[in-house]
Amino acid sequence: MTSEPNSPGGLAGVVAARTALSRIDGETGRLWYRGYDIHSLAASSSFTEVLYLLWYGELPTRVELIAFEGLLAGKRELPETVHAILHELPSDTVPMAALRTAVSAMGCVDPDSESNERAANLGKATRLVAQLPTAVAAQYRIRQGRTPIGPDSELSHAANFLYMLTGERPGATAERALDTSLVLYLEHGLNASTFACRIVASTLSDMHSAVTAGIGALKGPLHGGANQRAMEMLLEIEDEAAAEAWIDQALADGRKVMGFGHRVYRTEDPRATHLRRMSEDLAEDRGDSRVHDMARRVEETMLDRKGIPCNVDFYCATVYDSLGLPLDLYTPLFAIGRVGGWAGHVMEQHEDNRLIRPRAEFVGAVDRHYVRLEDRR
Ligand code: COA
Repeated sequence: MTSEPNSPGGLAGVVAARTALSRIDGETGRLWYRGYDIHSLAASSSFTEVLYLLWYGELPTRVELIAFEGLLAGKRELPETVHAILHELPSDTVPMAALRTAVSAMGCVDPDSESNERAANLGKATRLVAQLPTAVAAQYRIRQGRTPIGPDSELSHAANFLYMLTGERPGATAERALDTSLVLYLEHGLNASTFACRIVASTLSDMHSAVTAGIGALKGPLHGGANQRAMEMLLEIEDEAAAEAWIDQALADGRKVMGFGHRVYRTEDPRATHLRRMSEDLAEDRGDSRVHDMARRVEETMLDRKGIPCNVDFYCATVYDSLGLPLDLYTPLFAIGRVGGWAGHVMEQHEDNRLIRPRAEFVGAVDRHYVRLEDRR
């Protein structure tokens, strides 16, 4: 940690860990996972392929990929304890809170829960990536009084999630769109949730504790919660013609427009470039571009009024809307992608650990005179 007292608020610009997983150039709007440009990965690789790259450092051969996909697909079933806990939760439990609880419970029954060895961590990481979608889909159906649908090991990671939600096997377009969004969500340096994971891991606590903290951080509207909030905003605006006035009013009220701005990018978030294109393609496929057009108008207005570009969450919202996904599953889907990155960072932290423990700049009172309870007025 290189911060000094009087460091910028929110640790902006502070280098707090070393990573070989991803690199972000905020000035030019570029992002690489393990040295590969995000544009190549998003265009041509599947989520499981990129996950393999992240954890093992190299893109898999076809044989390696098939084995890895088989491994993940075989671990999708939730432990019975986790199922039981999901059934016990109040039916109005928000999905991110349920997911946080489910992951914590997974840690209670994981055979390797207390080991931070590389092999144990890889096993836990595999189970987490495989089971997060099952937990999200199961809680979604339980909340609606419906029976959860078990995973289908023949389906891809993305297709299986959609199947567990609805019981229907998705078409290739929906499968590909969801899979690409997961590639784009997979990893992003020392964002707030990943930092939370690394802080927990740096105490030599375990993978599930770290990921539970990560989910807690991701839940907030300034981080992962922004994709759901962005869609809620578009639903409120309702119509492209109302977009400019709505944004002007929001800015005049001093409100943050969700899905815009970024701590690191000074130009367009390269992930947004893909999601905008996907949003446009899906709108064209559906023959209904009203939401996409409204989003474009919001984007143009934000650029015009504030010069602030959109981030990953903005067009992810319209993509998920096109896929007919429930609003409150947008942020859990972010977690379903990002858990691969969290796990990668926990492993990096455990492999070269030093306790993360910054200092606070003290701004309170000093040397106050102590008065015993019986003498206080
Ligand atoms: N809407 C309106 N104004 C915004 C804005 C947004 N989404 N994002 C930043 N700004 C403005 C701030 O009001 C501030 O203006 P000021 O200097 O006149 O006060 C300036 O830009 C700097 O913003 P700040 O919040 O200090 O930047 P940050 O680096 O601390 O925050 C975010 C980054 C992501 C938290 C912030 O952009 C935000 O809240 N965005 C909306 C939530 C979101 O989409 N989050 C997902 C991020 S991937």
